[in-house]
Amino acid sequence: MSDLFSSLQLGPYRVTNRIAMAPLTRSRAGQGGVPTELMAKYYAQRASAGLIVSEGTCISPQAVGYLDTPGIWNGAQMTGWARITQAVHELGGHIVCQLWHVGRISHPSMQPDGSLPVAPSAIAPAGEVRTAQGPQAFVKPRALDVAELPGLVKQYRVAAQNALASGFDGVEVHAANGYLLDEFLRDGSNRRTDAYGGSVTNRSRLLLEVLETVCTAVGADRVGVRLSPVQPVNDMRDFDPQGTFSQIVERLNDFGLAYLHVTNLGIETPGLAGPYFDPRSLRALWRGIYMTNHGYDRDAANAAVKTRAADLVAFGVPFIANPDLVARFKTGAPLNAADPSTFYGGAEKGYTDYPFMA
Ligand SMILES: Cc1cc2nc3c(=O)[nH]c(=O)nc-3n(C[C@H](O)[C@H](O)[C@H](O)COP(=O)(O)O)c2cc1C
Repeated sequence: MSDLFSSLQLGPYRVTNRIAMAPLTRSRAGQGGVPTELMAKYYAQRASAGLIVSEGTCISPQAVGYLDTPGIWNGAQMTGWARITQAVHELGGHIVCQLWHVGRISHPSMQPDGSLPVAPSAIAPAGEVRTAQGPQAFVKPRALDVAELPGLVKQYRVAAQNALASGFDGVEVHAANGYLLDEFLRDGSNRRTDAYGGSVTNRSRLLLEVLETVCTAVGADRVGVRLSPVQPVNDMRDFDPQGTFSQIVERLNDFGLAYLHVTNLGIETPGLAGPYFDPRSLRALWRGIYMTNHGYDRDAANAAVKTRAADLVAFGVPFIANPDLVARFKTGAPLNAADPSTFYGGAEKGYTDYPFMA
């Protein structure tokens, strides 16, 4: 019987355990979205994870919606990432790049030429965005023209190729948490009347086109995808999350992906993102490697792997505060507590200075 500490075949790679580091935006990239030496230290400290999923990494200037987040669209960014992937590999780890376009979760001050952020439909999310000038209300985004979508799909392909060229072991297509691809998937943010809106087939078209081209470019066994079926953050909802995401997962089965990553965020606030269902039930529909996430501790994660409710478990906040999370889980050592005030932005404090076990 497998447990959290069993190795796992993930696409072409044998990973040493089933403890993944969840994607974590930390807003410490340098000028122009270039990864820094400090980021290399941070990821290297966490290289004992079976798999590291990088922080959300912007595929284009238009994809940016948070301050000081890294990109993967130019050579300087790729050079920065190459330093990080090398450091992780030298320590025997594996790392994939989370490909991110924030869609409407941005602000003109972060967009090229001060343009409006883009989205499937011109619907402003409720809430505020953190800009260099402080918090500001979200603006009404510009609905993408259907003629722009092939170019957008191509940006995902180029970003995936750049990621592999930077030494990443693969990519995770970010289709969760209210960002661009998720905005297309759920009908609260997608009111389009063309081939990309309406039915689930239409709403999932952009994601499937992105996966098609990314899989062709880097190989499906190096591609994962992240979904968040009942997650309400960023003003997200769907009239039928169970129907929508069951159909999507069935379609994803056709690709032969490295893994499906489903975050359960929202199960503690049933109904906020639409009629409730338990997203963990999607596991039964999926014919590949399944990664679960959200609120797991060691014992719950171990139980999930032992009962085959998941093949691996991603940890977010526990990995922020515990670079040696795997060793702590193995020995049953207590965990450091995380300091949320240092999650986003800053330097070493709350980033690379969490202590290892004595
Ligand atoms: C500081 C912070 C940054 C995050 N950044 C991302 C991100 O870039 N991409 C993403 O898909 N999820 C992101 N998340 C969500 C985490 O990947 C994860 O789903 C969440 O922390 C729940 O897992 P946990 O209970 O183990 O912490 C972030 C969460 C936190 C706390």
